[in-house]
Amino acid sequence: MTTTLPPLPAGAADLLRDLDAPPRLVAHLALVHEVAEEIADFCAGEGLEFDREAVRYGAATHDIGKTVHPEELSGPGSAHEAAGHALLLARGVPERLARFARSHASWGGPGVTVEELLVSLADKAWKNKRVQDLEDRVVDRLAAATGRERWEAFLALDDLLTRIGEDAPRRLAVQAAHPVRARETHATGRAGRC
Ligand SMILES: [Fe+2]
Repeated sequence: MTTTLPPLPAGAADLLRDLDAPPRLVAHLALVHEVAEEIADFCAGEGLEFDREAVRYGAATHDIGKTVHPEELSGPGSAHEAAGHALLLARGVPERLARFARSHASWGGPGVTVEELLVSLADKAWKNKRVQDLEDRVVDRLAAATGRERWEAFLALDDLLTRIGEDAPRRLAVQAAHPVRARETHATGRAGRC
């Protein structure tokens, strides 16, 4: 199995290098970013309008707060969400791109944007975790944008997520091959939480 990571957007990659981000975190962000690109391609093809750059940057940095709270790479916790948002703002990243670090685990609010839904969906789909409430919200946006029946939008999204899910074992193995701490030279064999 190759453990080569898919590319990250240049701005995000530079920032992660600058922060000396743990390899496990970089791997996770690269894999979620790759899946977000697939989901964004599909949604754009369906006629959904959204800020593509924001989805890219959001997927590539959503867990960046785990550089501040590395214990949340392998254990539970949500402290990384506010910390990541604050970190990005402090680095001069605009709110339009920084918001995902805070919002990626909470898609239920009334003001959630389509870009936030797509990043949250990618953060589940990469490991084939299906979350009906989240998918329902994306289906609502797709149906409204395309004028298609809701069930048609659901079937199209379900087909995409099923295909993405089939590659989840490989992604989990790639992530697990990257150590939680920069000094580790061997994989722990666990995919961790991310
Ligand atoms: Fe994540």
